[in-house]
Amino acid sequence: MSKRYTITAALPYTNGPIHIGHLAGVYVPADIYSRYLRLTGNDVAFICGSDEHGVPITIKAKKEDVTPQDVVDKYHAIIKKSFEDFGITFDNYSRTSAKIHHDTASEFFKTLYDKNEFVEEVSEQLYDAEANQFLADRFIIGTCPKCGNEESYGDQCENCGTSHNATDLINPKSAITGNVPTLKETKHWFLPLNKHENFLKEWILEGHKKDWKPNVYGQVKSWIDDGLRPRAVTRDLDWGIPVPVEGGQGKVLYVWFDAPIGYISATKEWAAREGKNWEDYWKKDDTTLVHFIGKDNIVFHCIIFPAMLKAEGSYILPENVPANEFLNLEGNKLSTSKNWAVWLPDYLQDFPNQQDVLRYALTANAPETKDNDFTWKDFQARNNNELVAIFGNFINRVVVLTNKYYDGIIPEPSDLSSVDQETLAAVKAYPSVIASSIERYRFREASQELMNLARLGNKYLADEEPWKVIKINETRTKTIMYVALQIASALAVLSEPFLPFTSGKLKNILNSRDNSWNNISNKEILLPAEHQIGKGELLFSKIEDAQIQVQLDKLEASKKANEAANKAIEPQKEEITFDDFTKLDIRVGTILEAEKMPKTKKLLVLKVDTGIDTRTIVSGIAESFKPEDVIGKKVTVLVNLAPRNLRGVESQGMILMTENEDGNLVFVNPDVKETANGLKIS
Ligand code: MF3
Ligand code: ZN
Repeated sequence: MSKRYTITAALPYTNGPIHIGHLAGVYVPADIYSRYLRLTGNDVAFICGSDEHGVPITIKAKKEDVTPQDVVDKYHAIIKKSFEDFGITFDNYSRTSAKIHHDTASEFFKTLYDKNEFVEEVSEQLYDAEANQFLADRFIIGTCPKCGNEESYGDQCENCGTSHNATDLINPKSAITGNVPTLKETKHWFLPLNKHENFLKEWILEGHKKDWKPNVYGQVKSWIDDGLRPRAVTRDLDWGIPVPVEGGQGKVLYVWFDAPIGYISATKEWAAREGKNWEDYWKKDDTTLVHFIGKDNIVFHCIIFPAMLKAEGSYILPENVPANEFLNLEGNKLSTSKNWAVWLPDYLQDFPNQQDVLRYALTANAPETKDNDFTWKDFQARNNNELVAIFGNFINRVVVLTNKYYDGIIPEPSDLSSVDQETLAAVKAYPSVIASSIERYRFREASQELMNLARLGNKYLADEEPWKVIKINETRTKTIMYVALQIASALAVLSEPFLPFTSGKLKNILNSRDNSWNNISNKEILLPAEHQIGKGELLFSKIEDAQIQVQLDKLEASKKANEAANKAIEPQKEEITFDDFTKLDIRVGTILEAEKMPKTKKLLVLKVDTGIDTRTIVSGIAESFKPEDVIGKKVTVLVNLAPRNLRGVESQGMILMTENEDGNLVFVNPDVKETANGLKIS
């Protein structure tokens, strides 16, 4: 039965491109779900857009010395294009700087204002006198009162997810000047969450205990158990939607007030374009609303936005909010500022036409119930061992043999053996098996069931061996190929939500436009005898170690750059006189011999010709240079340093070293430009 769905995916902030964490947590599962709903005949509005207000964007603009509008224009274009190229099928991708959104959000605010749903209050807020600015949200950093994280923001702690008021922070500091803020009076409008406590308890704690994910339910419960307090929904900032009521001059709506309304304005924009009625998707009880989000968005989507919708009075509430946990990358937390990420535009460039590989790797390893780790090795293995070796291999064999034996025309089957019948019955069961996983938001499991269907196909061919049977029994071979082609056809349809590009190619190869999920179980056969299929086309190709190494090297470079940036700069030492300096006797010498000091990691024992003598110098450079690489090098030597005994060897002087721009140790050397690692230092 066809149903109406409004599916939303969290509006990404336009202060950077999309990375794999966003994809795995929100956009890939939301796209799988929406594609599945469409394939099963439902009426779907899949909605997203850019979240263009909020402090992070202002901060980015300041840093780059451009306007906030410049920042959002740039990233909106990048994000929108990369989603399209990646095959995310939003029905509308809008943006919160659009007029329709400003109008919708203003109107929403005014409605609540007119209904007396806000508490208007003058209170003391944190203020930075030097920057001449109130410090809201990410303009303020301090210790989270709940978990003790010292880098919590004014509105939310990214460590524990708690959302709080800026004045709750312990030891708050301005993110603009680093100053300790003062307090200054200002008027704001508060949404009294406490007023909605009973409704939230009943609706979520009682109504959704069973069907919401435990991580989502648990966070909401702990929030409600802590007691709900009024939350300011306006800010003293200049980037955002102006507060549209008396006394609101110079103030804007809190970004988390306007952004979720973006789902509504984006639906309006879409409906106007498509000749539909947007209210059907937001105000009819028989519409199912589902929000796909990351776990840091839970309180906003489960408490604040529903309280807003409830207060407004004419909207439906979400049926489910399937938030995911976080995805890490090679063992470390994804971070935009540390450039520890796999950026979608980079991926699309480095792996052209391989969108499905990333979609599959992220789904098969999705952080559904706990934080998870993305590794490039796993990505490679998912491709080579599953997509290529199982899915691709099965399809390739079916298509090649059908062309070879029958010029691509599906043969007439004769009597089906019991294995054939069982196989076809098993195929018919897959749509509901996969559907059941998808409908419970278990996309990992669903993707593995899809792979199991390809495994079933491979096993069928391996057991029935048409390439052998053809030599002795042509009739039987026809039946085998006929059955195998039915499996291929089911794969073409069932893979669509997960591997949309592959599904498209496969439908082309099979020359089959049948796109109905339910037909697989309901129709007697999928591809009839005498149907002509096309020639093969490679669905997946092996990913080589060298390609993976390129990606690992990129990450290594980020790590190095971060280490260099974080290196503590030691303060200057006490002043010395010119006389002190002239005491140093520094000469150019040549290393004649070098060997490692036994049982040490760092020390090399060197014989150095200083021009006045040959002497032994022990140098702590063994982690950067091999003995054989330094022999013959010209070096700068401090020759009148008092001798020191190092591990039983007397060291008579010191070799001067410095660091190059990559942070590698290099000799202070007058004429040679090449170091032992082959790095130019000039
Ligand atoms: N921009 C927010 C984030 O990236 C998500 C906003 S979701 C919406 O965390 F509901 F507010 F739109
Ligand atoms: Zn915290």
